[in-house]
This record gives sequence, structure tokens and C-alpha cells, in this order.
Amino acid sequence: MQRYPACYGSKFAVAPMMDWTDRHCRAFHRVLSRRALLYTEMVTTGAVIHGPRERLLGFSQAEQPVAVQLGGSDPAELAKAARICADYGYDAVNLNVGCPSDRVQDGRFGACLMREPALVGDCVAAMKAAVSLPVTVKCRIGVDDQDPGQALDALTLACRQAGVDEVVVHARKAWLQGLSPKENRDVPPLDYDRVFALKAANPDLPVSINGGIRDIDTARALLVARDGVTLDGIMLGRAAYQDPELLLRVDTEIFGEAEPPVADAFAAIEAFEAYIAHQRETGVRLASITRHMLGLFAGKPGARLYRRHLSTHAVAPDAGLDTLRAAVAHVREAMARREREDAA
Ligand SMILES: Cc1cc2nc3c(=O)[nH]c(=O)nc-3n(C[C@H](O)[C@H](O)[C@H](O)COP(=O)(O)O)c2cc1C
Repeated sequence: MQRYPACYGSKFAVAPMMDWTDRHCRAFHRVLSRRALLYTEMVTTGAVIHGPRERLLGFSQAEQPVAVQLGGSDPAELAKAARICADYGYDAVNLNVGCPSDRVQDGRFGACLMREPALVGDCVAAMKAAVSLPVTVKCRIGVDDQDPGQALDALTLACRQAGVDEVVVHARKAWLQGLSPKENRDVPPLDYDRVFALKAANPDLPVSINGGIRDIDTARALLVARDGVTLDGIMLGRAAYQDPELLLRVDTEIFGEAEPPVADAFAAIEAFEAYIAHQRETGVRLASITRHMLGLFAGKPGARLYRRHLSTHAVAPDAGLDTLRAAVAHVREAMARREREDAA
């Protein structure tokens, strides 16, 4: 696997998502795009330092480039955690300044750090001093009644002074009272202009945009200059997870590669079989891997049967590649039937 040293400021990334972007998910996404930067789920400094490290941080080189996302607000602990992650071979370390959950607020990290730019600066500086990897920050445009102009500018200034390598902005506020984390991904309105304004004011700082980007066409449009300002990258979360086939367009249409890594979703599954077989041999259940593949074939004939087959059968302790192949066969059959009907 080719390494991309400039993985910070990456033009295209799949967002960190708790419970979703685990190592199996990333291995699958990597089959669909060689160039996208992939992220771990958020992992807290306490877990990195004191928890079961291999289970939390273990990953395979085939997934690279991968950025690990840390949750924390103690500079010394973040430095220690960053060093541990660097030793594990991650390509970048990202600090979470965007998660609004109560648990995270209790720990005084995540989105509530939007109110403490100086502390975030100290965190970034400590991580930069601890590792030679790119150190990046993923944040919101503000929280609650903050003025998004001032809040994001203050945070960015503190991060810049600490030497941050990229700022990824989820282009909406987080409302810390009264909204669930899920609502906080949809309810506060998106403000892409705010992110362009940030880039305009910081032309030499890599700035990426995230939030509500549903497909590759929208992603490409956001990479086009607006009033002379060009963003450095885009990050997709839910769309990439729920419709992973869109990742097949990333290498060619975002990075200008001549060909996608595999021709289509069927070829992607075939290319992924060796990984699944290996994981099965180490005792990983099929469903732990295929749960990240349920969005494949979205909108195609047979997709519902494919999903149902996997949801029902992949949980069996002995389920293996045959189960996956049987699920895929539903799509092949339904598509062949559709073709015959269209030709008739
Ligand atoms: C299931 C789920 C889990 C998430 N977990 C994290 C997380 O661990 N760290 C983080 O910074 N953002 C997390 N997010 C937010 C996403 O990274 C992203 O900012 C958000 O979904 C908006 O992007 P989208 O509209 O492309 O999905 C999560 C989102 C989802 C849907």
C-alpha cells in the first residue's frame, strides 16, 4: 500500500464515527478507495493510556492512511496518548472538538472545547511536541449561543499558534443543551460559507469541510473555488457509510486517478474476501464485518434481499464466505431479471 505523507489536508476523508468506523469498516472502505484518508472512531485518552490497547488501537497496514481521533482535554495525557498512537503506526492524530454527547461534556472535551480555545491550543502544542505526525483538529463552527465567526476564528488562531496541521470543520453549531448527538448532526443549520470564510482568512492552513455532503457531485462542487477561495478537503460521514459504493468514485473523480481500485461493488466484495477469510480464521464473526457492508448495492434490485440475508444469517457463529456469496447472489439474480425485463 502506497503511503501518502501529506495525509493531513487530505482532499477526501471518511469521517470518524463511533461504532461505525472500526477496523473492519476501514478495511472495507480501503477496498473502495486507495486514496481516501480513513479515521478511527473517537478513542479517549484514558482508554488509550489505561485500556485494552490492542483491541482499541490495533489495525492493519492495509487500511492506511488512517488518522486516529482522540478525545481528551488534558495536554499531558493527549501527548502520551498521541505517542502511543504514533507507535501503533497511525498516519495522523486528530483531536475531537465536535462531539456533543453528555458523557463527553462531563469529561470536558469534545464540542464544549469550542469555549476553551487556549486549552485546545495547549493540547495541540503538547501533541505536536510529542509526535512527528500531523496533528489535526475536528471542530464545529461554535456551540450554543456563541458567535460562529468569533468562536471558530478564536479556536483556529489558538490551533495555528500551536502548529496545527489541518482544521476539519463540521459546518454547523452543536447545541449542548436539549439535543441528542444524533439531532446535533441534523438540526443546527449548516453554514458552508463560514468555512469558506475561515479558509479565506487562513490561506496557508489546510481547511476541510464536513457536514451534510450526500454524494460525490456535491463533494466535488465544494472543492471548486468560491470567490477565489478553495478548500483543501472534504469529509463525508453518513453518506460514505450508508452508501459505500460512492467511494468507488473518489480515486478517479477527486484524486484524478485513471481507474478506480475495483470495477464495481461485486468486484469490491471479491477483493475483500481474503480479508474476511483471514478474520474468520482469527475468530471474528462474519456479522462484525458485514454489518459495515449492508449499504452496498443501495438502490439496486435485490438490495433488500441482500441486506436481509446478511442480517439474518451472518450472525451465526459458523457463517462465512458462503453466506456472503449467497447474499450477493440475490443482487445478481435480481439484476439479471431486471435486464431481461428491460430487454423484453
Ligand atoms: C454514528 C456516528 C458516530 C459519530 N462519531 C463521531 C466521532 O467519534 N467523532 C467525531 O468527531 N464525529 C463523530 N460523528 C460525526 C461525524 O464525524 C460527522 O461530523 C457528522 O456525521 C457530519 O457529517 P455527515 O453529514 O457527512 O455525516 C459521528 C457520526 C455518526 C453518524
